[in-house]
Amino acid sequence: MEKILVVDDEEFIRQNLDRILREEGYRTAGAKNGQQALDFLKDASFDLVFLDLRLPDISGLEILKKIKESDPDLLVIVMTGYSSVESAVEALKCGAYDYIKKPFKADVIKLIVKLALETQSLKREVFSLKKQRETVLGSRLFIAESPAMKDVLMQVREVARHAETTVLVTGETGTGKDLVARSIHNLSARANRPFIEVNCATLPVNMLESELFGHESGAFTGARGRKIGLFEAAGSGTVFLDEMGEIELGLQAKLLRVLEDKKIRRLGGTQLHEIDVRIVAATNQDLRQAISAGRFREDLFYRLHIVPIHVPPLRQRPEDIIALSNHFLHEYARKFSRAFQAFAADAQALLLSYRWPGNVRELRHVVERICIMHDGQILGPELLPKELAGQAPGSLSAVDPIVFPLPPEELKLDEMIDRFTLHLIEKVMKRADGNISRAAKMLGIPRTTLRYKLDKYASEAKSRGSSW
Ligand SMILES: Nc1ncnc2c1ncn2[C@@H]1O[C@H](COP(=O)(O)OP(=O)(O)O)[C@@H](O)[C@H]1O
Ligand SMILES: [Mg+2]
Repeated sequence: MEKILVVDDEEFIRQNLDRILREEGYRTAGAKNGQQALDFLKDASFDLVFLDLRLPDISGLEILKKIKESDPDLLVIVMTGYSSVESAVEALKCGAYDYIKKPFKADVIKLIVKLALETQSLKREVFSLKKQRETVLGSRLFIAESPAMKDVLMQVREVARHAETTVLVTGETGTGKDLVARSIHNLSARANRPFIEVNCATLPVNMLESELFGHESGAFTGARGRKIGLFEAAGSGTVFLDEMGEIELGLQAKLLRVLEDKKIRRLGGTQLHEIDVRIVAATNQDLRQAISAGRFREDLFYRLHIVPIHVPPLRQRPEDIIALSNHFLHEYARKFSRAFQAFAADAQALLLSYRWPGNVRELRHVVERICIMHDGQILGPELLPKELAGQAPGSLSAVDPIVFPLPPEELKLDEMIDRFTLHLIEKVMKRADGNISRAAKMLGIPRTTLRYKLDKYASEAKSRGSSW
């Protein structure tokens, strides 16, 4: 329930307001002077303040200004005695929500508080709506023709029914993890509450922390005013932590606590605030591997892993390739006023044989590009990008057939480059009959560099059982 602070030096007024507000179910606290009020406001989370303008120590206007500096959104209703209306007007100018004259009637107080809090909650809703504006799902289609995706859809339906359960969505980039997360939200009891997406990889760690948890004023340099974090702004909705594998270890510890207690502490704050959100996390990383590498906390993994949903790569779901291509073709044909009806059989064959490293996202873009550039009834293979037909002309493989085996999934670019370099060096060393100087010349690098790389890769080469 909302918490209201009553600031007045007259005990009678405090008690009176206290009684009226408690009758309505609000929680209250009372301060008998300005200093006490400021102490209360320092870390407690009030939703509204009744503020007497004439206090014994600090003037009410001063207090109002301080409040508005540190927490511009906090509602303040000022109270004036028989004194002038001017001070009330001055207070409104300084950001007070409204003013009342003493003596007041209980009904008026109840009404004014109700309206003020409703306005406040609407404001918060607008804030979170703005946050999710670009990511609203509407009723986007979830295509699931393959047995694997039908299974995923079933899991989505099942977990949606349990509005508290944390979900971990895994899968390569572009497989549909966002869509899964949104669908869980949309099918759940939280559907008409906000869905807030946070990409953990794009924000620097300290910003991510204050985005998620919010901060009190002065929590760090540049922290002006109090800010509500996304966990609080999501009010009874869903927080989608995308690219969870990128979160830094310190923040992982804090998230673990959030998951366990469903409570958060704003940066620089002392008070714990209860939150009521479902957390859906997603990653394209192998978190078990990240755990062994010391980059991910095992306890957090198990906390997230309660309901894991894995979205398989597109190349493993031929039924979906066809269904999705048709779906995107109709979507973009309509959008760009094209006459495309279907894919030709040999175009379908190409779609099916391609590896789709970028998964559904790549497929969507391929179809979109075709519909922007071309028109026709039946979409033939000649309109598909070259890489779908196998080799791009002029690629390395056309000049010199160096066969590089496809790396196992989830290999990092650096590791892939390392392996490729090793592979290339092996070949060139063979061709140069083991002569380092000649091999270095062929590779166009200094001999010392090659020497260094050979040393670096020697152990790996040994373990792979090859020799120069
Ligand atoms: N099963 C599906 N049905 C319809 N569209 C899909 C499906 N899976 C993915 N998409 C679309 O493919 C694109 C990439 O999906 P997204 O959920 O953002 O992938 P990820 O989050 O795994 O990178 C989005 O435009 C999404 O709407
Ligand atoms: Mg995504």
